[in-house]
Amino acid sequence: MPADLRAALADATTRLSAAGVGSAWAEAQILAAHALGVTRSELSRLVVLGAEAPDGLAELVERRSRREPLQHLVGRAPFRTVELLVGPGVFVPRPETEVVAGLAVDAAREVDHPLVVDLCTGSGAIALAVAVEVPDARVVAVEVDPAAHAWAVRNREALAAQHPGVADRVDIRLGDAAGADRAVLAELVGQVDVLAANPPYIPPDATPVDPEVRDHDPAVALYGGGDDGLLVPAAVVLAARGLLRPGGLLVMEHADTQGPGARALAAGPAWTDVRTATDLTGRSRALLARRATGA
Ligand SMILES: C[S@@+](CC[C@H](N)C(=O)[O-])C[C@H]1O[C@@H](n2cnc3c(N)ncnc32)[C@H](O)[C@@H]1O
Repeated sequence: MPADLRAALADATTRLSAAGVGSAWAEAQILAAHALGVTRSELSRLVVLGAEAPDGLAELVERRSRREPLQHLVGRAPFRTVELLVGPGVFVPRPETEVVAGLAVDAAREVDHPLVVDLCTGSGAIALAVAVEVPDARVVAVEVDPAAHAWAVRNREALAAQHPGVADRVDIRLGDAAGADRAVLAELVGQVDVLAANPPYIPPDATPVDPEVRDHDPAVALYGGGDDGLLVPAAVVLAARGLLRPGGLLVMEHADTQGPGARALAAGPAWTDVRTATDLTGRSRALLARRATGA
């Protein structure tokens, strides 16, 4: 790799592009800024000043060329109003889930001191974004995988420095979303105002093609079980039925092909206002259902 920063960025872009990385120029800059410990605008200034390429950039580019996730290399992923620590053992939060979290935030803002539950919390993405954006919310998050649970706890502690009070309002529990209303969240039955979830939902025969996902996101975060990937999502809907108060809202992410299957999970008198929300590209993205009164 060239010693000069400008030339090193061009070289990194060529290498990343050849490895199939989509936004090679942008990622080269992110990796260089990370290696230098500066922001991207400071990086641009250093390029103009003719600075040298940082030690470590060549290795970062090599690892990214082997399709390690960018977020693992820099150790962080932005998610709405928060930045989350991520790495091996936890699902990297996705932009599409920001839309799902936004639906939960909007619903929570309609309630005084809302109680919000995030099932399958992973890094804590939805739970922590809701806690930051709805300052009077109490949030309880559940994660079954001990490694992911540890990342969520780490993220809550890291956020507490910038957002005093968040740590006191977010309770992160190790447990199973399936049967959560009878076990890990039993004391919350019938009290939850908003239940958000981004459960695993990929069907068994739909292995992701991107190596970043296939080889680095934990399998427990990807595959939803059953022939259609909706086994864990079905368990989430069942738990939500027990946990939500009458009128409380369920917001659950699913694949763009799973709208009808997800709506079918909320069939019957326990649910009302069942519909599918779309993301910014117009694709079916989340099940919305309101807990019926008296069912
Ligand atoms: C698709 S990831 C979503 C993580 C996070 N909510 C997000 O949006 O970035 C699904 C998460 O659900 C967890 N999970 C899978 N099965 C679960 C279950 N039965 N109960 C609780 N968590 C589960 C996985 O370990 C993983 O962290």
